[in-house]
Amino acid sequence: MVVLPLSAFHSVTRDDTYRGFLIPKGTTVIANAWAMLHDPKEYPEPTCFRPERYLKDGKLNPTVHSPNTLAFGFGWRICPGRHLASASLFMTIASILHTFDIHQIPNEDGKAFDPFSSVVTGLISTPDRVPCKLIPRSDDRKQLIDTSI
Ligand code: HEM
Repeated sequence: MVVLPLSAFHSVTRDDTYRGFLIPKGTTVIANAWAMLHDPKEYPEPTCFRPERYLKDGKLNPTVHSPNTLAFGFGWRICPGRHLASASLFMTIASILHTFDIHQIPNEDGKAFDPFSSVVTGLISTPDRVPCKLIPRSDDRKQLIDTSI
């Protein structure tokens, strides 16, 4: 999922050319980060949750572009909070996985819930709801959770 699917809009401050195309001063340029991050040539079956797509022989595969090169914008105005955001997300996700078992809550018809079906699209994209149950993995982990809040 791409948090800012169309990145941030930019306005061209003087006439520019790109691959022979004139981009006149004042043009609004919108970068389609969603399309780039769902390019099936780069990320086959892009909507499948498949973290191992970034790995080869147990290591990061350098031939697959990291989403970080697109999700935080580009050039001079690239997001200055990107390192803080990535580190915070890593710590949050690692802490949740360390302490909780995550169980899906199926739909009313008993089928597995598809998180993509609840994504709210707009300038900012986010899942509307993710029905799941978080259960502490053990008594030790429960104590860890209790002491950290
Ligand atoms: C997952 C979290 C985040 C995402 C996906 C994100 C994404 C973005 C994107 C796409 C832009 C536009 C870049 C461009 O104009 O090309 C941006 C700009 C910006 N971001 Fe973030 N961001 C995140 C977190 C943060 C955090 C944690 C901070 C601050 C601590 C932050 C501060 C800013 C600022 C100040 C700008 C404007 C930069 C400028 O216009 O020069 N962002 N962000």
